[in-house]
Amino acid sequence: MLALVNDLLDVSVIESGRLELRREPCSLSGLLEQRVDFFQLVAEKKRIRIEREIPPGVVVEIDPGRVEQVADNLISNAVKYSPPGSRIDVSLVTGEDEVRLEVRDQGPGLSEDDRARIFGAFQRLSARPTGGEKSTGLGLAITKRIVAAHGGTIDVEAAQEQGSTFVVVLPKTWRRRAR
Ligand SMILES: Nc1ncnc2c1ncn2[C@@H]1O[C@H](COP(=O)(O)OP(=O)(O)OP(=O)(O)O)[C@@H](O)[C@H]1O
Ligand SMILES: [Mg+2]
Repeated sequence: MLALVNDLLDVSVIESGRLELRREPCSLSGLLEQRVDFFQLVAEKKRIRIEREIPPGVVVEIDPGRVEQVADNLISNAVKYSPPGSRIDVSLVTGEDEVRLEVRDQGPGLSEDDRARIFGAFQRLSARPTGGEKSTGLGLAITKRIVAAHGGTIDVEAAQEQGSTFVVVLPKTWRRRAR
């Protein structure tokens, strides 16, 4: 219930254009390692294995609390919609000016119609939780707006029966946009 109330508050903050980031240099490697460790415990109940490819020492200027929300929603979705015994891959790749976070699963994937709606609020699509988890349909709407506020992008590659891959690209540094 608390998580739902927080999500609803986030949606109202975001929709009113008041999402303010507290950007600071932060180890994205450390943040992701921690979140993968956490979700590994949850995933074990479904015999889902989370493999990681996270190079150490990747520091980016982000709002760590907000980027943790992004990682949490993508990894929790992968766990929530994947069948028992499957595998999830979390990887971080650094480029010159950007970093790329990928969360890949072996779940049901997304239809074209799902893909058109997936970043909207309150969208619960074809995939249903495989372990009785709650599904409100807010996580990706919030995720997309947090990523956009960082000047980044989020996309999904999903072929049905081959699972889904969510790809987040974030700039490494932050230059205040000229108004
Ligand atoms: N990895 C995935 N594979 C297949 N379908 C997915 C995946 N992630 C999300 N979806 C579909 O997209 C819908 C929206 O996802 P979103 O994260 O916004 O909401 P949720 O997980 O249902 O609830 P919340 O995140 O608010 O707890 C989900 O209900 C599900 O149908
Ligand atoms: Mg979710």
